[in-house]
Amino acid sequence: MIIRSHLNLIVLLIAWIIIFSLTSSVSGLGTFTHIETNSSSPKPMMWQYGNYIDGTVVLRIINVENISDTGDVVLIRQMLSLRIIYPNGTVSEIDKGLEIQEFNWQITTTSDGINQDPISIFALQRDNLLVRYFKASNTSDITTYEEWGRIIDWYGNLYR
Ligand SMILES: *[C@@H]1O[C@H](CO)[C@@H](O)[C@H](O)[C@H]1NC(C)=O
Ligand SMILES: *[C@@H]1O[C@H](CO)[C@@H](O)[C@H](O)[C@H]1NC(C)=O
Ligand SMILES: *[C@@H]1O[C@H](CO)[C@@H](O)[C@H](O)[C@H]1NC(C)=O
Ligand SMILES: *[C@@H]1O[C@H](CO)[C@@H](O)[C@H](O)[C@H]1NC(C)=O
Repeated sequence: MIIRSHLNLIVLLIAWIIIFSLTSSVSGLGTFTHIETNSSSPKPMMWQYGNYIDGTVVLRIINVENISDTGDVVLIRQMLSLRIIYPNGTVSEIDKGLEIQEFNWQITTTSDGINQDPISIFALQRDNLLVRYFKASNTSDITTYEEWGRIIDWYGNLYR
């Protein structure tokens, strides 16, 4: 329940941001629709975004695969899914495995309702973004978790 209401809020927020940034740069465009190439289940959900000075928006979408019985751990498809929305309305889809530890692909909701996702995206300069994730030498020991990052560009190339 908590997860759902947060997701709804995020989806609303992102929809608003996209509509705002598109209408401000692409005049005359009232609604914006993008049909996913793979309209597979589980359904994609907008999760994180980054925006760039030139008006490009990068959305990260997630596909929920399983939810724990207690409802506080969500397993997502082990794939970084980005949708690059250019100011001219063109959308490109990137689905990339990252070769990172499995615990990165779960979103945990804390008792005070905060979603903790080990993975985050950050917009860098034009056509690059940083993907934050974690590495742990012992996944049962929180003190061994280290923050790492990789660069990915708008064309799906990964850099170390
Ligand atoms: C669509 O999904 C199928 C099965 O999961 C996969 O084999 C295919 O590569 C996907 N296509 C794209 C464009 O992602
Ligand atoms: C979902 O998680 C439950 C409990 O951990 C497990 O029993 C079930 O097999 C999982 N389902 C899928 C489709 O992975
Ligand atoms: C929209 O812009 C992108 C990035 O500049 C470009 O690759 C694409 O071809 C453009 N699409 C159209 C329809 O002009
Ligand atoms: C991993 O961490 C757990 C919890 O701190 C500890 O009990 C276990 O011995 C550690 N395993 C290794 C291989 O260090």
